[in-house]
Amino acid sequence: MDGTTYLSDYRPYPFTLDHVSLTFRLAPKATRVKAALSLAPREEGAPLHLDGEELKLISLAIDGQALKPADYLLTEAGLTIHPAALPEGAFTLETEVEIAPEDNTALEGLYMSKGMYCTQCEAEGFRKITFYPDRPDVMARFHVRIEGDQSVLLSNGNPVGHGPGWAEWDDPWPKPAYLFALVAGELVATHGTFTTMSGKTVDLNIWVRPGDEDRTAFALGALARAMKWDEEAYGREYDLSLFNLVAVDDFNMGAMENKGLNIFNSKLVLASPETATDLDYERIEGVIGHEYFHNWTGDRITCRDWFQLCLKEGLTVFRDQSFTSDMRLGPVKRIEDVITLRGRQFREDAGPLSHPPRPDHYREINNFYTATVYEKGAEVVGMLKTLVGPEGYRKALDLYFERHDGQACTIEDWIKVFEDSSGRDLSQFKHWYTDAGTPRLKVTDNFKDGTYTLEFTQETRPTPGQPEKPARHIPIAVGLLSPNGDEVVPTTVLEMTGDRQSFTFTGLGAKPVPSILRGFSAPVVLERETSAEEQAFLLANDTDPFNRWEAGRNLARATLTAMTVGAEPDPAYVEALGALIGDESLSPAFRALILRLPGEDEIAQSLFTAGRTVDPDAIHRARHALMATLAERHETALAHLFDASAVPGPYKPDAASAGLRSLRLACLSLLSLRDDAARARALYASAGNMTESLGALGILVTVGKAETELAAFRKRWQGNPLVMDKWFVTQLSLCPPDEAPDLAARLAADPLFDWRNPNRFRSVLGGLSANHAGFHRKDGAGYRFYADWLIRLDPLNPQTAARMSTAFETWARYDKARQEKMRAELARIAAQPGLSRDLGEMTARLLG
Ligand code: PHE
Ligand code: ZN
Repeated sequence: MDGTTYLSDYRPYPFTLDHVSLTFRLAPKATRVKAALSLAPREEGAPLHLDGEELKLISLAIDGQALKPADYLLTEAGLTIHPAALPEGAFTLETEVEIAPEDNTALEGLYMSKGMYCTQCEAEGFRKITFYPDRPDVMARFHVRIEGDQSVLLSNGNPVGHGPGWAEWDDPWPKPAYLFALVAGELVATHGTFTTMSGKTVDLNIWVRPGDEDRTAFALGALARAMKWDEEAYGREYDLSLFNLVAVDDFNMGAMENKGLNIFNSKLVLASPETATDLDYERIEGVIGHEYFHNWTGDRITCRDWFQLCLKEGLTVFRDQSFTSDMRLGPVKRIEDVITLRGRQFREDAGPLSHPPRPDHYREINNFYTATVYEKGAEVVGMLKTLVGPEGYRKALDLYFERHDGQACTIEDWIKVFEDSSGRDLSQFKHWYTDAGTPRLKVTDNFKDGTYTLEFTQETRPTPGQPEKPARHIPIAVGLLSPNGDEVVPTTVLEMTGDRQSFTFTGLGAKPVPSILRGFSAPVVLERETSAEEQAFLLANDTDPFNRWEAGRNLARATLTAMTVGAEPDPAYVEALGALIGDESLSPAFRALILRLPGEDEIAQSLFTAGRTVDPDAIHRARHALMATLAERHETALAHLFDASAVPGPYKPDAASAGLRSLRLACLSLLSLRDDAARARALYASAGNMTESLGALGILVTVGKAETELAAFRKRWQGNPLVMDKWFVTQLSLCPPDEAPDLAARLAADPLFDWRNPNRFRSVLGGLSANHAGFHRKDGAGYRFYADWLIRLDPLNPQTAARMSTAFETWARYDKARQEKMRAELARIAAQPGLSRDLGEMTARLLG
């Protein structure tokens, strides 16, 4: 009754909907949408409810007969037709509505971006287009006619006819409304083709605004690589003769998997060496893969209701991570993914927004497109794969596609295919889906008479609404090294199911050094009393690349946290790092990761988890001091490595070249503390690609010497919105913290701060919140600025305002004064008259 939706209230839709026919007559202020729905009752006497918001009803008829006002009820949320007004069997409902795409600033439903029409319907945007059962378990075949004078008129499926001013599309695959898409505009395409494993030819088009077409080649190649990979890794073939992908500049999220017509934020499509960084290239390939993979895990098999969101998202993230891992360097990708998981999901799980991958209630589903649903959802799929093995996983997925193709499914269906294909009982494992919180795994060891014992205990702290935490089923990958560095027990998966459990290894000649949670085999916090010597030993000797990096990370984190309360840098860490950076047997990308210190937010998070004081200024100083020590101690080696890792020849975005560039920039950021940023300035001046220009610019910003370069950068790129986003975010996230809130205010007054554009809005607010000590400046100026802009954006674009409010999710970490300031800003937001449901739910949860 308070507007909350509960999983336990799920009921099937009382009608079947076989076919939909839509006609759009496009006009910016008055688009007409006619819909004909072929419906049939599944239960007798049920009223017909259709969702619909912000629609002007023009006409309403059943089987050609106009309905009378007494036949139906029209509310803000939709249209309900009384049972008495419905025929007995199948019937056709016809509606016509009017909408105003030009006034749609929420970017949900049909809206306009730089003169082009486009749609975003997930999760519940279709109800802003026409009256419809807007729920994922209603799957229908769509026929679409678009009338408009644009040269390009696109919808899902296959083109079935077009002429001057119109086009018709037919999608043979039944789908829920959230996968509907329409695009109309003066667009140009880059074409390609792909031949599927059964020999069918698919036409591929990347559609962009004129002028952007020279930045589409990489995206087209990535699409073809994704199509091939899904055939090889999952046996999945594409199922239409056409695949369209459109780039739009105004988009709330990353991209959308609409059937046969993916719509992308242009930042995840457009790339050239001069405008995109190595990281952009990697993300573009990953997200193109992600949306393409949704064709099977999302479109052909979709979700029964929105509580099951991680059924498609967790699985599809897992798939895109595996794809990137195969295209690039597997161990490096795994480390990057774990950095993201900890930085976003562990952080979310440790605060007031903690929720399970499958939540059981929400007010606004848009608020649940979270790191927990996506990234933790992917980890849970990874654990299933670890438990049943690679062949067992393939068998389970084959069964999933065979059993559920064309259906709208649940997490129970998903778990059942693993149980049925492997014969295992996964009822305890299911807690990973239904329970919130990050388990903490404590481990102690013991060696006696050749027998080595590892004893684990697990504990998950209470989370909002879930005080009790039953034990999880945790796959713990372990290897043992002998004191001379040989691996005496190769990677073995221990399965922990109890609160406390021991595992023994026999026949050992000496007490081994354990390498625990290899490959990060479960999303847990591992707590182990261990010496710096042992971590240094693992950093030097572990055969598991993830745990080798992890040992270095543990050392870095330990010394940094000690330094926040006045300790000196740990020499064990400083020396161990020196040995690694010169180790030519390690890939440059891996060495770059080792050289990159944990970020300030990560240090804050680990202090908080350990129950210690979190002082943002002390953290910033400690990190800077450790960098200075490393730079001083290893200056010669770093300078040598900087020179040796220059990449010859023209720019290529492949993993090996990107790895070299990232190593070179990691060296540069340390060297700049020794050479007064001379090398960085020279690199900025000579760089021929965005990776190096932006890398050098960021370093100059960090040392406070970027004025000339920032002005030059702005002058050169002011006409390119995606590059200008980088200009905003780089200076804000990296500038000296004391200056950050004032710089944010100055940048918000820049004529190029187009705050209605989500990418630009995020580049300024996200830039500020990424500057940890700057956002948390003692006087609260960062919080105030941030809250002011959320309040301003909310009436226009509630979805983006609500997402950005997560910057406040960590309030409980900080001192009383900061806590009060953050909570006061949240309370101020919550008290705004007319606050959206999106931001209203977020502030309520954040305040607890
Ligand atoms: N379903 C999209 C994806 O993960 C994300 C998205 C959600 C996009 C909601 C827009 C709106 O690929
Ligand atoms: Zn997705």
